[in-house]
Amino acid sequence: AAALFEHGALAGLRVVVTAGPTREALDPVRYLSNHSSGKMGFALATACVDAGARTTLISGPVTLETPAHVARRDVESAEDMLAASLAALPACDIFIACAAVADYRPAQIAGEKIKKEDEQLTLTLVRNPDIVATVAAAEPRPFTVGFAAETRDLLAYARGKLERKRLDLVVANDVAAEGIGFNSDDNAVTLLWPGGEEALPRTGKGSLARLIIERIAARYAAARG
Ligand code: CTP
Ligand code: CA
Repeated sequence: AAALFEHGALAGLRVVVTAGPTREALDPVRYLSNHSSGKMGFALATACVDAGARTTLISGPVTLETPAHVARRDVESAEDMLAASLAALPACDIFIACAAVADYRPAQIAGEKIKKEDEQLTLTLVRNPDIVATVAAAEPRPFTVGFAAETRDLLAYARGKLERKRLDLVVANDVAAEGIGFNSDDNAVTLLWPGGEEALPRTGKGSLARLIIERIAARYAAARG
């Protein structure tokens, strides 16, 4: 590990990875969330350590062991994840947003358990802050990497996210494809950046994470020298 720390593709760099789902409380016993095992984000954090980076993992609720040599911060809601991400920015060269953040949260958190009464219940939800877009708009900003989880028109939507959020790289993930995506062990992605794209082979999340980190290191070096 010491040799990698000195000679890895991310030697001396500080990387922050978000992972897992967020949980948006509805009342003391209920929440809204997304499907996300956290495996991809944790595999990315492991790959960052192996590449020599000082690695922080900001994780929503998952049932995974913290990878060796990773500083882990546990959060619940998107607002918590944003606060932890902004707090990490002063020591962050590369920010990788792998978390499945809930896009909306309940407008109010009921103080007591909501009792069933009517045949229908209407919830009012409000938009959550976009963590990766907020990070990419910070000054100074880290090299900022987002994911795009799509069930259709993958590359078009992913390039839209790259441009709209002003990201340096997007990892586009087809979550409708058979046997890959959020809860599986395999994954296949296409990387997009301003002016290029590259499809990576379908493989286990561990080796895919190493490939993604290798490419992020190369694009970081190209962008920042
Ligand atoms: N993301 C984020 N904060 C949010 C929502 C998403 O940081 N509130 C990040 C995710 O971690 C991911 C990227 O944005 O890196 C794209 O997430 P995705 O859900 O695919 O895109 P959205 O911008 O939320 O758009 P939509 O869900 O409508 O496709
Ligand atoms: Ca979303």
